[in-house]
Amino acid sequence: MTEQTHQAPCVLVTGGAGYIGSHTLVSLVEAGYRPLVLDNFSNSARQAIERVGVLCGETPECIEGDIRDRSCLDDIFQRHPVTAVIHFAGLKSVGESVREPLRYYDNNVAGSVTLLQAMQAAGVDTLVFSSSATVYAPGVTMPVAEDAPLGPINPYGQSKLMVEQVIRDHCLAHPTFRAALLRYFNPTGAHPSGKLGESPRGTPENLVPYIAQVATGVRDALTVFGNDYDTVDGTGVRDYIHVMDLAEGHVHALDALRERTGAHTWNLGTGTGYSVLEMVRAYEKACGREIAYTVGERRPGDVGTCYACTRKAASELHWQASRDLEEMMRDNWRWQVSQDA
Ligand SMILES: NC(=O)c1ccc[n+]([C@@H]2O[C@H](COP(=O)([O-])OP(=O)(O)OC[C@H]3O[C@@H](n4cnc5c(N)ncnc54)[C@H](O)[C@@H]3O)[C@@H](O)[C@H]2O)c1
Repeated sequence: MTEQTHQAPCVLVTGGAGYIGSHTLVSLVEAGYRPLVLDNFSNSARQAIERVGVLCGETPECIEGDIRDRSCLDDIFQRHPVTAVIHFAGLKSVGESVREPLRYYDNNVAGSVTLLQAMQAAGVDTLVFSSSATVYAPGVTMPVAEDAPLGPINPYGQSKLMVEQVIRDHCLAHPTFRAALLRYFNPTGAHPSGKLGESPRGTPENLVPYIAQVATGVRDALTVFGNDYDTVDGTGVRDYIHVMDLAEGHVHALDALRERTGAHTWNLGTGTGYSVLEMVRAYEKACGREIAYTVGERRPGDVGTCYACTRKAASELHWQASRDLEEMMRDNWRWQVSQDA
């Protein structure tokens, strides 16, 4: 270990082997932090950490363990000079959360409570939490701002909102505690090197990984859920954000918490929405192949349009997304191709 990394502030990254977590490790190292990963690999593999090592020239330390395991957390805080926690660890499938709500509340809510308890016992008072745009109520005015009405409509979104509330209450009871509640919109893309990206297990729930599997021949065609929304071409519009922009947002959140206490909510999105068919066309351009699709029924619970108001993040985090749709798709495709190579 070099002298510089030894002195670098140590940040515990729960779920750091996952999609957003692994990209954030790169941004943390670039910003001079020393990330330490805790992951149970329930939706990832250690290989992602090795890939980060290749990109950064140094492989972050990674502990296999579960955020619900209090003794594992106590041991980590005892052995490492952790100054802050970025908390990605969680289950993220909306459909699965409807079928198995208890698993989601146990993992996402109970796990976060255990983490907060261990942080409190260790005197660690800085937390960045992965929340989600799914906490907003359907039908809110676009662009959706942080003070818009809340009302998640599935157990996954509920679990995120519950953790936000737990963190807010914890901050009220402990005035030196500080937390960033980051509401992500739709992360996509990959590291521009093509060496790090998203590897979903099973059928992808998100649009771009699905399109990518059609492009690579893993699946025959994309099903577009509804083309009768009040949007540019009738298909659903979402705010897609490049995963490296999102990753950098976490570094800005850590910086912002240095001068703040209490719980702060920030949207991380681009403020621009693209329809499903615009995404299909952009991917076709990136990969040079045609993406077959069929149009199916609307999915229950889906809204026509959702995109972020980015003003609060821009003014308070001094951060805004800088990568465009073309980069998101190009980087995703480079990752697909490099995996096949
Ligand atoms: N990807 C998205 O579209 C999206 C959008 C909004 C919010 N989020 C949230 O951001 C976070 C990261 O998402 P992601 O896309 O990187 O997901 P991911 O599944 O790729 O990463 C989550 C990581 O957490 C780990 N994990 C899960 N439960 C754990 C536990 N109990 N103990 C230790 N590790 C555990 C998994 O193994 C995985 O490596 C999640 O909390 C997710 O809910 C994701």
